[in-house]
Amino acid sequence: MSESLELKIVITADGSKTIYHPIIKENYHSRNGALQESNHVFLNSGLRYYLADKQVENVSILEVGFGTGLNFLLTNDFCTGKEIILNYVGLEAYPLSLKLIEDTEYHQIVSSNSWEIFLENYEKALTESVMLNQFCSLHIACIDAKIYTTNLLFDVIYFDAFASSNQPELWTKEFITHIVSFLKPGGVFVTYAITGDLKRIMKSLGLKIEKAPGAAGKREMLRAIKP
Ligand SMILES: C[S@@+](CC[C@H](N)C(=O)[O-])C[C@H]1O[C@@H](n2cnc3c(N)ncnc32)[C@H](O)[C@@H]1O
Repeated sequence: MSESLELKIVITADGSKTIYHPIIKENYHSRNGALQESNHVFLNSGLRYYLADKQVENVSILEVGFGTGLNFLLTNDFCTGKEIILNYVGLEAYPLSLKLIEDTEYHQIVSSNSWEIFLENYEKALTESVMLNQFCSLHIACIDAKIYTTNLLFDVIYFDAFASSNQPELWTKEFITHIVSFLKPGGVFVTYAITGDLKRIMKSLGLKIEKAPGAAGKREMLRAIKP
């Protein structure tokens, strides 16, 4: 995949924009609403669920498939509002150009402060971990997630790969096991989809699975908690 494939900006049902990938033939977000999907699946069902019964000063998040950064931007706004220190690592094998990120116009849906510091630091964050402000560090690791490795463990994993029908290699037991190895005990893994295979893989890894209500257009999504 490369950007010369003419990735296209498209408008989703809630008015927020996403990107259409012509080779994969899939949008980066749900056509039923990019903003509603990011808020529902990742921020609310993932991070806010994880934080619900806790008083924490910091939280670490690993995202598989950083893309436009919408999940990061919403998470950053939330954490800044709560004065929670956010350490965010996004994995992205095919980073978007700054121009395409700008074309998403997410300044219309996130705080102008979050948007501006993201744009200012985007290219640097593709090469190293960057402190965007006193509450937030961001590193977008430009690597195939299958070979990513780190000594860090994360509180929450946002799993936002393309669908298993289009990128089956990112939904195998081997790959999910690899990604779950970066989750702390008590940590939460969320993704927008739920399949029998994914449930079986999570159970075989000893995670407690929950069928959570899905984002608009999907009945259910998967949340898994590491004991
Ligand atoms: C469904 S989109 C994610 C959308 C993204 N979270 C956002 O908010 O824009 C899937 C993303 O996974 C990336 N991707 C595909 N294969 C990958 C791989 N092997 N390793 C890491 N990232 C990959 C794609 O380039 C794309 O950005």
